[in-house]
Amino acid sequence: MRMDVKTLQRSLDEAGQSHLLQFWGELSDTQRSHLLEELQGLHLQELNGFFHRAMDGFSASSTQEKVDARMEAVPRDVLGSFTRDREHLKDWEAEGFTHIAHGKVAVLLLAGGQGTRLGVTYPKGMYDVGLPSHKSLFQIQAERILKLQRLAKEKHGKDCIIPWYIMTSGRTMESTREFFQKHRNFGLSEENIILFQQGMLPAMSFDGKILMEEKGKLSMAPDGNGGLYRALGAHGILKDMERRGIEYIHVYCVDNILVKVADPVFIGFCVAKEADCGAKVVEKMNPTEPVGVVCRVDGVYQVVEYSEITLATAQKRSPDGRLMYNAGNIANHYFTRKFLQQVVEVHEPQLQHHVAVKKIPHVDTQGSLVHPEKPNGIKMEKFVFDIFQFAKKFVVFEVLREEEFSPLKNADSQNGKDNPSTARHALMSLHHCWVLNAGGHFVDENGTRIPAIPLMKDAGDLPIQCEISPLVSYAGEGLEPYVQGQEFHAPLTIDESGVHQAVRNGVHP
Ligand code: UD1
Repeated sequence: MRMDVKTLQRSLDEAGQSHLLQFWGELSDTQRSHLLEELQGLHLQELNGFFHRAMDGFSASSTQEKVDARMEAVPRDVLGSFTRDREHLKDWEAEGFTHIAHGKVAVLLLAGGQGTRLGVTYPKGMYDVGLPSHKSLFQIQAERILKLQRLAKEKHGKDCIIPWYIMTSGRTMESTREFFQKHRNFGLSEENIILFQQGMLPAMSFDGKILMEEKGKLSMAPDGNGGLYRALGAHGILKDMERRGIEYIHVYCVDNILVKVADPVFIGFCVAKEADCGAKVVEKMNPTEPVGVVCRVDGVYQVVEYSEITLATAQKRSPDGRLMYNAGNIANHYFTRKFLQQVVEVHEPQLQHHVAVKKIPHVDTQGSLVHPEKPNGIKMEKFVFDIFQFAKKFVVFEVLREEEFSPLKNADSQNGKDNPSTARHALMSLHHCWVLNAGGHFVDENGTRIPAIPLMKDAGDLPIQCEISPLVSYAGEGLEPYVQGQEFHAPLTIDESGVHQAVRNGVHP
């Protein structure tokens, strides 16, 4: 039911937010109805509660002993490793495939972020990093899901489905839906792609006033990827999972071009260890790399974000020369459905928002739009890994960066890291290795074999152009029939229609 403006004004007054209707008299009918809708969607008392708890936690963290002093690295007994546990990998993979084949595994994509650093106005998953195929991140992930379903069928002789839950936000929902429709869900069935929306929260000034982006519009942003847990409950997602018989869920972020969605090895490892919660990590090599580290604080598992660790702690090294806190979070998590159920029912309300202090453009009391030079307010966010603390059995799985992690965070022009070029190169270098491992070779324009270990001397050196469709190979398997004993000229692409390579002198070499 619609509240009238007077009633609304009263509740805003009571909550100390009366300024939100300050420009009411100047607004058009459309602007008024949008603003009313936004305001009616707010739970003012709850919001004030969030603000005070978040700010209390934030000031406590700056006065208290730094988190650094209480950190401990992940102990060996909860750690599985792709390199050190080679003898178990096949078993874990087989276990994972069994659960996939029995329809017990789902993937859940966190795609509600705004892509601010990348500087695009559309959802990051739609981004084309410039591969020969020009596939978007969404398409690459969709095809990996399709391929896994097929592999599981080959191994177990039955059809199976890996449902794909996609969390979007008010900023990304419509364009994501349209993109999937336009691309016919990349070959997946529509009923197995479940889009749902996370919540939004307004930006607030340091004294708890909601900031306005325009005279008739609040400054709203998604409530962090930990908004997942509230959204799971609000949209009946866990019920849907239960109805489908899902037991194990792989949760991941949209921006990693190498992500192994529903990775059977990771799933199998977590199930074999009887964990209710797990995290995949890569070795953090550089103290300033912007990844969180999985560790224990006061004996409890958590991720200490790159924004929360001091440089001195980030630089600490173990006697073997490696970084002491080197379990770099690649935002690939495993949860059992039962654990998520408990989180949603019991723990979610206890999670406190993290505070991000920001320069937030806003309309001032005079009605002018201000772009502040100093931070003027906060955004409140929950983080997806905030629930590690509630796990009964937490495990960590360490994988190789070259095989599993190359995130897309920045635009090409900003700096040389985590951008479209590095993502594209990481995928092509990996696929080059797959070809070599399957017995293929690359030759240069003179027909001379290119060394198996490509020499990348300078940052400007380019990898061999090689792209293999996920529909042909999920993780490098099954390529022998295409490449064994053969020589190729780059660019090489392999897809379901066959092998395509550079044409030399008008003929295919
Ligand atoms: C994230 C991790 C960090 C990790 C790094 C690896 C979190 C909180 N931090 O950092 O520990 O080392 O990835 O690349 O997970 N998202 C939403 N809703 C939101 C905000 C974000 O769904 O409200 C999604 C984004 O669409 C994206 C993911 O969460 O898929 C990560 O968001 P981003 O802001 O890029 O996280 P980072 O700071 O890079």
